[in-house]
Amino acid sequence: MAVRNMFTAYGADHSRLRRLVQPAFTARRIRDLRPGIEGIVKSLLDDLAAAPPGEPVDLRARYAYPLPIRVICELMGVPEELRAGLGRCADGFFDTTITPAQAQAVAAEMQDLIAELIARKRAEPGEDLVSRLLAGRDEAGGGPLSEQELVDTCVLVISAGYETTVNLLDQSITTALARPDQLALVASGRVGWADFIEETLRVEAPVASLPLRYAVQDIDIAREAEAETEAGAHADAHADPRTDAAAGAVIRAGEAILAVYDAAGRDPRVHGATAEEFDATRPDKDHLAFGYGVHLCLGAPLARLEAEIALPALFARFPHLALAVPPDRLTPLASFISNGHQSLPAHLDGR
Ligand code: HEM
Repeated sequence: MAVRNMFTAYGADHSRLRRLVQPAFTARRIRDLRPGIEGIVKSLLDDLAAAPPGEPVDLRARYAYPLPIRVICELMGVPEELRAGLGRCADGFFDTTITPAQAQAVAAEMQDLIAELIARKRAEPGEDLVSRLLAGRDEAGGGPLSEQELVDTCVLVISAGYETTVNLLDQSITTALARPDQLALVASGRVGWADFIEETLRVEAPVASLPLRYAVQDIDIAREAEAETEAGAHADAHADPRTDAAAGAVIRAGEAILAVYDAAGRDPRVHGATAEEFDATRPDKDHLAFGYGVHLCLGAPLARLEAEIALPALFARFPHLALAVPPDRLTPLASFISNGHQSLPAHLDGR
């Protein structure tokens, strides 16, 4: 909350801060990242294949975790020696079990590391996003991005690109291994990996909830839903389950809001009695895993691309992959932000 970037900004400030980063996330720019992502995936799979035979490997630590981090560090031009520190801080951002003092220490360390990253890019610019933000700002004589906004924008993009996609990979792999019937649907071509990934986003939103927003004016939720219906978002106002559910709910100006993205995807009023069940063939996989509206996740196409490359490659390389413990023995992370597992022990050869 204490940062000054698009995530915490409103109105014109939000548009200005988002516009500066947006060019790095266009469809073409993201497509261009494919060969780099494929290269990282291949090297991670080679490392896994070199594990001692018969011993379980932790697929979260050795596959789901390093991929998004390497991708975001390449995109941002983070040198090798700063990566471990930034990773530790990004993990701290999503860890809701630490004390306020620890959280402050994490935020301070993150600011120092980003300041160091920016100083290096000023001295030695490259083709990366930080250098481009810096060039835009320095050429414009300090505007339109203040130094604090520059630092906090880097904090946002790095931390948003870390654990979020890790959880998407973690949850997709877990479901594929726990539900061989669903994996078989992909193998047979009845559904694509893109369907499998969307259904994972719906049932297991990687960001369960995200602190914190404040209402700038009174928000009557039912009225907002109705207005949207009238604007054509839903065909029939009376059939929109959100309108009835929210009747009478008003968030007052100044009140804090915790948006709970993972509840939305499993809402039986939207997805019916089977809302909690993973079914990649389900025609309506509507979810809020990437948020909604003007703050809609900027990195969603990148996250989807990483998953669309990493998942088929993993299952093609290790067709007998199997969890080393029953799925219900996997321990969830304690964080109320991050929806993943503490570890994902698996046998590469199925035994
Ligand atoms: C599966 C992976 C991801 C998930 C589940 C996710 C989820 C979210 C959510 C829920 C929001 C808040 C949206 C709202 O308030 O309505 C958000 C915002 C954002 N995300 Fe992601 N994210 C993911 C990956 C990424 C990646 C890879 C990047 C960048 C490299 C990224 C960058 C951002 C940024 C910059 C924002 C702020 C947008 C704004 O405030 O205008 N995200 N994300």
